[in-house]
Amino acid sequence: MTARTAFVTGGATGIGKALIEKLDREGWRCFAGYNRQSPDALLDVCSDRTTAVKCDVTDDSSVKSALGEIGDNIGGGALDLLVNNAATTGGAGGGVENVDIDRFKALFEVNFWGPIRVTQAALPFIRRSHEGRIINVGSASQYLTIPMGCSYPVTKAALRRLTQALRAEMKPFRIQVACLEPGGVKTPMMDISDEQRAELWGSFPEHLLPEYKAHFKFPGDAIEAAFPLWTAEKFADRVYRDVVQAKRLKPNYLIGPGVWVLPLMKRTMPEAVQERIFARMFQR
Ligand SMILES: NC(=O)c1ccc[n+]([C@@H]2O[C@H](COP(=O)([O-])OP(=O)(O)OC[C@H]3O[C@@H](n4cnc5c(N)ncnc54)[C@H](OP(=O)(O)O)[C@@H]3O)[C@@H](O)[C@H]2O)c1
Repeated sequence: MTARTAFVTGGATGIGKALIEKLDREGWRCFAGYNRQSPDALLDVCSDRTTAVKCDVTDDSSVKSALGEIGDNIGGGALDLLVNNAATTGGAGGGVENVDIDRFKALFEVNFWGPIRVTQAALPFIRRSHEGRIINVGSASQYLTIPMGCSYPVTKAALRRLTQALRAEMKPFRIQVACLEPGGVKTPMMDISDEQRAELWGSFPEHLLPEYKAHFKFPGDAIEAAFPLWTAEKFADRVYRDVVQAKRLKPNYLIGPGVWVLPLMKRTMPEAVQERIFARMFQR
């Protein structure tokens, strides 16, 4: 039997890397999209079924050339699974009052327009598969209200909505689409650096900074205190079992330690109660 084929963007680190390692171990043929970080550590532990492909999801020509390379490699074959995993949290921290709009747009360029760009380029190959699947990686953070850190969850909430539309559009073509929403996975994204901290507080004009600092915690600290972390390997095993191997993809998979409580809160609690919980989490 020929190996099934996957393309995972942002595959050099974190969840993308762990997922490719898992797929590779399970016999898949993988294309690992990478951007700035070297994919060497990934390639070192994978079989020769895994190939690294340079793919900056914000750049049309990079995406086209990555998919061209994949197309050449698979010949007339199909792409069975696309995981739009590449994303960033950085660069647009701060309050809505002072967020840098160009940086916010840049975040959308990676987290929202990136998956669209890659999906458009990959679909001709996915259409060749009898069991084509697209998994957009959202975030459990979109269930939270995060003062001073709304930019990232807003991009992921938009991606979730987009995924719902894509799922409907792809149904007649038997291409299954889902949103995977991780929460609490130990990856480079979760390592908050002193620079990120300084960047967020530094984004406020001097006259507003003391007031914001008096009212709000650094959002990363509040999230870290509220949720434990899984290893990326544990997360990837769970995704393989519950999502990749699922016969029929559900619209959404929220996976991570303790995150099940978030949609439950949304469903069962009045908004005022949710607001009080988030205020306790993120405010001083
Ligand atoms: N870890 C968590 O708890 C958590 C929670 C919720 C959601 N997620 C989501 O899970 C996915 C994986 O994140 P992670 O936690 O594994 O963090 P990560 O290790 O930082 O992975 C993100 C990857 O995206 C790549 N990337 C960033 N900009 C890119 C661009 N323009 N083009 C192509 N690749 C780009 C990064 O590569 P470069 O650094 O080389 O650019 C990196 O390899 C993301 O969608 C993230 O939003 C993670």
